[in-house]
Order: sequence, then structure tokens, then C-alpha cells
Amino acid sequence: MDYSSKYSYRVNYVRPSPIRTLVSKISEISAARRVISFAAGEPDPGVIPRGLYARILAEVLEEEEKSCNYSPTEGIPSLRRAIASFMEDYEGVKSVEDEIIVTIGGSQAIDLIGKIFIDPGDHVIVENPSYVNTIVNWEFYGARLVGVGVESDGLNVDRLESVVKSLLSEGRRVKLVYTIPTGHNPAGVVMSDEKRRHLIEVASRYDLIVVEDGAYNHLVYEGSFKPLSYYDKEGRVVYVGSFSKVLGTGLRIGWIRARRELVELLKAIKGPSDMCAPVPLQHLVERILRKRLFDEIKKKAVEEYRRKRDAMIEALDEYVQGVAYNKPLGGMFVMVRLPSSIDSEEFANILLEKYSVAVVPGKPFYLDDSGKNTIRLNFTMVSLGEITEGVKKIGVAVRMFS
Ligand SMILES: Cc1ncc(COP(=O)(O)O)c(C=O)c1O
Repeated sequence: MDYSSKYSYRVNYVRPSPIRTLVSKISEISAARRVISFAAGEPDPGVIPRGLYARILAEVLEEEEKSCNYSPTEGIPSLRRAIASFMEDYEGVKSVEDEIIVTIGGSQAIDLIGKIFIDPGDHVIVENPSYVNTIVNWEFYGARLVGVGVESDGLNVDRLESVVKSLLSEGRRVKLVYTIPTGHNPAGVVMSDEKRRHLIEVASRYDLIVVEDGAYNHLVYEGSFKPLSYYDKEGRVVYVGSFSKVLGTGLRIGWIRARRELVELLKAIKGPSDMCAPVPLQHLVERILRKRLFDEIKKKAVEEYRRKRDAMIEALDEYVQGVAYNKPLGGMFVMVRLPSSIDSEEFANILLEKYSVAVVPGKPFYLDDSGKNTIRLNFTMVSLGEITEGVKKIGVAVRMFS
């Protein structure tokens, strides 16, 4: 049977993911020999208190008669209330239950937002580089993504304004700006407070919705930053939250905070697709928040990842010459710009095959060729020893390539 003649037109927008190919290659090679992998985007399993989760989940299953049944699509009411309080306590954004919808991670939140807002041909502004899964997902809905550069203090908001102005003057539809202001994946930067304010002003001037991806908002190593939602007085920020990066990516609990009318619409399209997020895990997260255990888990994660980040920067300073990078104030990644003559996909392949070190080439995160010599390094899933050993090998490979 040949399916291809039956596919929807959207399948034309699907492009092969070089990251998926790399990930299968990493697992293939790891089965045969030890690989130091800087390719992940996940918390260190050693930091996740699985014993605590096991005890809470046992309580949930014993005490909550309906914990193995469907919950309301929008989430169990106590978790929605807990997330509304979390938004206020941790983000300084006053929220109520009706403004929260619980999702299967930030990933589902991003997908639902794409479904609701994007018509084929709509122009959507994203950072260049941006999170590759959002790029792939929204292109599937037919978005024309327009990239605006990221500086060491986040999105170039002046440039964003001129890009929006010129698109509008050509009669294009521009609806959304998608940004990862804190702990950017993959750029490893944090947007300054000044730029956050400015972005909201620009969005207001051109009547744009801002999708704020807060996946890394709680992994900040220096200073503190208010989310974009804090500066928004007009309800134009749609906030995507996730507990993945602190509590664990496998829990699959995220949320959207938005105006009630949008939450109602989200509910209507989410229900037929998933019924609800996994109910025992909704209860687990609700109890973690209610018992105020999040602080402790987050504190341990932040301390551990700060140490690892510092080790990675020290190792890069010492062992890798002729490259550029920032010390990230938050998140899980350092983006390294290799000498311009190096193609990072080729580099990543040889690094893996010859030196058993895995990195993610930056190219798929960019909408143009400007990232073809960049690599993304994760510092949270590796041990301190692996950081030194792996970065040393990157240094050797860079010398060999240059
Ligand atoms: C920027 C960003 N947004 C969203 C996600 C989605 O994470 P999850 O679906 O686990 O919440 C990720 C995961 O890597 C991410 O890096």
C-alpha cells in the first residue's frame, strides 16, 4: 500500500529531523562503547527525588479514588489552583484557576497554541535560533517562520520591530512572537529586564500575541528575572509553563496561562485529542506544590547545575581555543560558535565516531545558515568528570578541524 497519495497537505511541511538521526546514532554507538553525551536537554536523574515521588504516588493511589480515571480535560481543579498560586508566588503574576489549563508538558501547550492561532501562510516571529520542536511543529501548521537574532542579553527587540513593520507594510499577516526569554534553548542566554519591557511595548504597538516559553524559568543561576507575563497589562502574553526541567521530563506536566476565553477554546480542542494529562502525575505535582516541596527540589537542582555550568565554562576556557560562547545565567545549555570554516554537522559526526563525545549541531535550530558552525552543549546530564574529559576532546577535535 502506498500511503503517500492519501497524506494531508500538511505532510508537505514535514522535514526530516537531523537531531532524530543523531539521537539514534548516539544510542547505537552507546550500546557498543562509552559515550560522553552533551546532547540531552534534561535534568540529572540523580537530582530527581524518585523515592519521595514513590511515597507521594503511593498515597495518591490509595487516597484518591478517581486517580486512575479521566480528569477534566483542563486538569484536576486542585492542580489548576496550585499552578495559579505558583504563578503568583514564583513568577509574580496574579492568576486564577480559570486562566490555567494543564497540558502534557510544554510540548502539548506549544502544539495547541499552533493549532489555535496558525493558518497556513501566517507569519510568526521566532528567535534565530529557536527551539527546534516549536519550529517543526508550527511549520507543520503552515507557519512562515521569520527569525530575529538573539544577542547575549536575549532577542534583538529593535530588529524585531523593524521586521514586523516591514512585514506589515507588505500586507503580511503577523500574529505571534515566540520567545524563550530565560535559559534559551539553544542559545543559552537570558533576556534582560529592559528588553522584556520593550518587547511587550512593541507587541502592544503592533497588536501581536507573545508566546512566552517558560520551560527554563526556574533554572536561574545568577540574579532573578520576571517573566514577560509580569510586564503584560493587556493579556497578550500566552505563557507556556512546564515542570519538566526541575521535577522531571517524564512526568509530562505543563500548562498554559492565558485569558479565560482562550483557555475555554484550548479545552475544546484538547479534550478530543488527549482527554486529559496523566491523572496520578497531576496529583503528584499538586502535592509537591501544596507541601511546598518544589523549593527544595529546585534549590538542589540549581546548586548542582550551577557547579556543572561553571565546570563547563572553565573547561572551555582552558581546553578549547578559537571559539566563542557565553556563560549562561540560566537553563541547561552553552552554545559554542566554532571557527567559521567548520561545519558543525560534520564536526558532530566525527566527534561522536572518533572521540565518543556527542554534541548537537546548531544548524537545525536556525532559520538560515548563520548557525552552521555552532554546537549546543548540555551541562546538566553529565558528571563533572565527564565535562572535563568531554570538553578536552572537543578541544582536540577543534584543533584537528581548524
Ligand atoms: C524551550 C523548550 N520548550 C518546551 C520544551 C518542552 O518540554 P516539555 O514538553 O517536557 O515540557 C522544551 C524541552 O526541551 C524546551 O527546551
